[in-house]
Amino acid sequence: MDAYKLFIDGDFVEAQSGETFESVDPGTGGVIALVARAGTVDAEVAIAAARRAFDQGEWSGLAPEVRARKCYEFADQIAAQGVRLALMESMDSGQILGLSKFWGMLASGTLRNLGYYAATKFPWEEEIAFSGNVFAPAREYIRREPIGVCVGIIPWNFPISMACWKIAHAIVMGNTIVLKPASVTPLTALIIAEAAQVAGIPPGVINVLTGPGAELGKTLCTHPDVDKIAFTGSTVVGSQIMRMAADTVKKVTLELGGKSANIILDDADPELAVEGAIFGTFFHQGQVCESGTRVLVAGKIYDEFVERMRKRAEELRVGYQLLPGTHQGPLVSADQLATVEGYVRLGIEEGAELVTGGARVQPSGFENGFYYAPTIFANVRNDMRIAQEEIFGPVVCVERFDSDEEAVSIANDSMYGLAGGVFSNNNSRAERIARQVRTGTMWINNFHIFGDFAPFGGYKQSGVGCELGGVGLAEYTQVKRVHMNTATSRKANYTMSLFSDDPRVDWLQYLAPTKVLAGHGTLAGLPQAVVSLGCRRAMILTDVGVRQAGLTQLVQDALCDFCVGVFDDIPADSDLATVDAATAKARELTADCIVSVGGGSVIDTAKAVCVTLKNGGEANDHIALMRLTEPQIPHIAIPTTAGTGSEVTNVAVIHNTKLDRKVYIVDTNIIPDVAILDPRLTMTLPARLTAATGMDAITHAVEALTSTLAQTVCDGQALHALRLMKEFLPRAVANGEDEQARIQVSVAACMAGWAFSTAQVGLAHSMAHTIGTLHHAHHGTACGVVLPKVMRFNVDYAADKLAMAAQALGVDTTDMTDHEAALAAADAVEALMRQIKHPMTLRELGIPKDALEADALHALGDTATLFNARPVSDPAEVLELFHQAF
Ligand SMILES: NC(=O)c1ccc[n+]([C@@H]2O[C@H](COP(=O)([O-])OP(=O)(O)OC[C@H]3O[C@@H](n4cnc5c(N)ncnc54)[C@H](O)[C@@H]3O)[C@@H](O)[C@H]2O)c1
Repeated sequence: MDAYKLFIDGDFVEAQSGETFESVDPGTGGVIALVARAGTVDAEVAIAAARRAFDQGEWSGLAPEVRARKCYEFADQIAAQGVRLALMESMDSGQILGLSKFWGMLASGTLRNLGYYAATKFPWEEEIAFSGNVFAPAREYIRREPIGVCVGIIPWNFPISMACWKIAHAIVMGNTIVLKPASVTPLTALIIAEAAQVAGIPPGVINVLTGPGAELGKTLCTHPDVDKIAFTGSTVVGSQIMRMAADTVKKVTLELGGKSANIILDDADPELAVEGAIFGTFFHQGQVCESGTRVLVAGKIYDEFVERMRKRAEELRVGYQLLPGTHQGPLVSADQLATVEGYVRLGIEEGAELVTGGARVQPSGFENGFYYAPTIFANVRNDMRIAQEEIFGPVVCVERFDSDEEAVSIANDSMYGLAGGVFSNNNSRAERIARQVRTGTMWINNFHIFGDFAPFGGYKQSGVGCELGGVGLAEYTQVKRVHMNTATSRKANYTMSLFSDDPRVDWLQYLAPTKVLAGHGTLAGLPQAVVSLGCRRAMILTDVGVRQAGLTQLVQDALCDFCVGVFDDIPADSDLATVDAATAKARELTADCIVSVGGGSVIDTAKAVCVTLKNGGEANDHIALMRLTEPQIPHIAIPTTAGTGSEVTNVAVIHNTKLDRKVYIVDTNIIPDVAILDPRLTMTLPARLTAATGMDAITHAVEALTSTLAQTVCDGQALHALRLMKEFLPRAVANGEDEQARIQVSVAACMAGWAFSTAQVGLAHSMAHTIGTLHHAHHGTACGVVLPKVMRFNVDYAADKLAMAAQALGVDTTDMTDHEAALAAADAVEALMRQIKHPMTLRELGIPKDALEADALHALGDTATLFNARPVSDPAEVLELFHQAF
């Protein structure tokens, strides 16, 4: 008689106890082999070997393609053992030879396919294009790494394929494995171990322990050196394994029991559906987890269908598994035979109608084998135990349904969710049902079909995780995220400054991709700008005020034939609905670029339109920080006010009317491609709006200069913007036609935009956003009113920067301390405001005093406060500022 040994650390060895057990042919009841009986000590030795092999990296450290080539050799050795494997599989498990003869080819194929996938398709490393974090620029990527030592515990129904699945997943992904086959079918896993040895898989990478599950399982599932358990078997044992694995928090994948519904619709091809129901159940004696053991049949065809099933079941030849022509072999063991007999008795007691079978079969010459006739129960109610519990034998329950909805509801009335089928000649009807059944696999007009690249796993109590395909391989890896800071100085680290008394960050990353054309007549450059962006179909976005000032026409005339339409329905502080309406128009016109003509409201709307047009959906889908990874729809911005700088910034501010709050897209990919600053387009701006929008730019400059993210390039831009504004804003307000002043103010606004787009703004902007949102005051006006108060609030945190601002605003600071100069800067801003007749108080803007408390809380929630020179977290302090501005 053959004797089989354990496979540990590359060698075949006896169990340390010297004990063996018998393996029995279920077709004859006779003993066919003696097998080493592993115990706890053997399990510990095997785990130690797998641990050493993993930790030393001789397998886990190989490149996936090198491992794959080794696996191809291993696969070839398995295929070479095909006949021996088939015979042993049949004799050990009762599987008919007609099925077992495939495993040499199929199992080696799975190993090759998974190895190939791991080497060529699996995403071992993935760069993350944008981090979604504006504070910490970094390279972010994911590595997928092997988990470590895996334990595979497999059942007795498909010993070769289960062993190969578990081994293949583990090793192609770089893990090592200790495999424990079922104690009634131990032989073929040891033949596979021989193939691994011949192929030169390094010692310790694959280990096979044969023996009783209860004893070995405890060691394998609790040992601290085991990282993952992959189990296929019953739900009861699966949940015990999960519990055992919990103490050492092992990763677990479980492929457990099922009671799958095979739904036969009234329009199914009758012959195919009957065969599907019979094959779905009686394949391999029904000892298959995914079997369709609840056949649900449409009422219309029920009686005829049951009769056809009976006929086919009675045609199946039950006999010894090695004899050619046998359809159904023995059950795996006497115990399993007893279980099936018990369930059939139960079905009869529960009142189900026994249509055929229901008895043992004793083929002549094989009277001691564990054979059972294909058994059909009809008129089964889904609440019967035979319809709820897994029998794991050749027993099928046929149930009736009267509508597709009822079929789905019966299918879902189960603690399991492993698989299922639908038979119908209408694919879309079948697909609808497939979507609604809560289960891991749905076959349409088929059953029991697997593919190496198609994942298999269970819903509900049928399992955790999947096997096969990329999804299954991923279960044998863990994800590591690597964050690589782009600057390695503590002073460059915004987040760590939380622990510092000096929150300023010493850091420079500067990007200004907009091509800017500034000066008289530059509007003539518009067609060339359109062409250079590869576009031909420009849609103008603007608002009614701009159109009435005659500016839209000027731009249309400049655009030649490239203008495909105009959208001018943009309100001040535009909202998401406006972006959606403008996007719809652009889609209708098949515009390939957007030309925005107007103030910040128009340009910001255009930025959001470009994103929505490019990415689909609606505006609210795209409210996000740093998410875009490529250029958006081309955008040419033509500012007509004196101050937002939006034509060069990375932010779009949009009103969310439901939240009553401004929301933002912040992303370098929304910075307009071209900005045209032609003074002719700002000359019509009334003095009041010139002053207000100019104050917006001044606020950008001051806040960028003092922000915690301030940096030297932006400082230069901000200071020069202040110098230009100090000199030219009063002239532009006094005489709107002063072309030189208009140009300089536009350039100043643009520079302030560059500065704050990188360095950010602060509390004055948060307060202005609140005033704009809740009281509909103009943004620039609100900025102006609160700015001097915020400058004084920040004085101890940014005295040096505010002193520079004072000089830029024309203050002689020679004899002043920084503190004095900083306060003088706030005074200078107020003097400038008076000079341009800008409102000085919130009261003048019509804001009620009793609203200030709510305003303070609202402003505190605005993101700009994050970058304010002085930390802002006390609502009382913000309220005090609102009172000062009132
Ligand atoms: N994205 C950014 O970088 C950024 C920066 C600052 C402000 N903003 C946003 O910009 C918006 C404010 O923009 P704004 O201050 O430019 O005002 P605006 O776009 O709301 O325009 C104000 C009014 O001025 C009229 N107008 C514009 N140009 C004119 C002209 N040349 N002649 C006559 N009338 C003209 C418009 O019709 C409108 O009625 C706010 O929503 C604010 O949040 C965005």
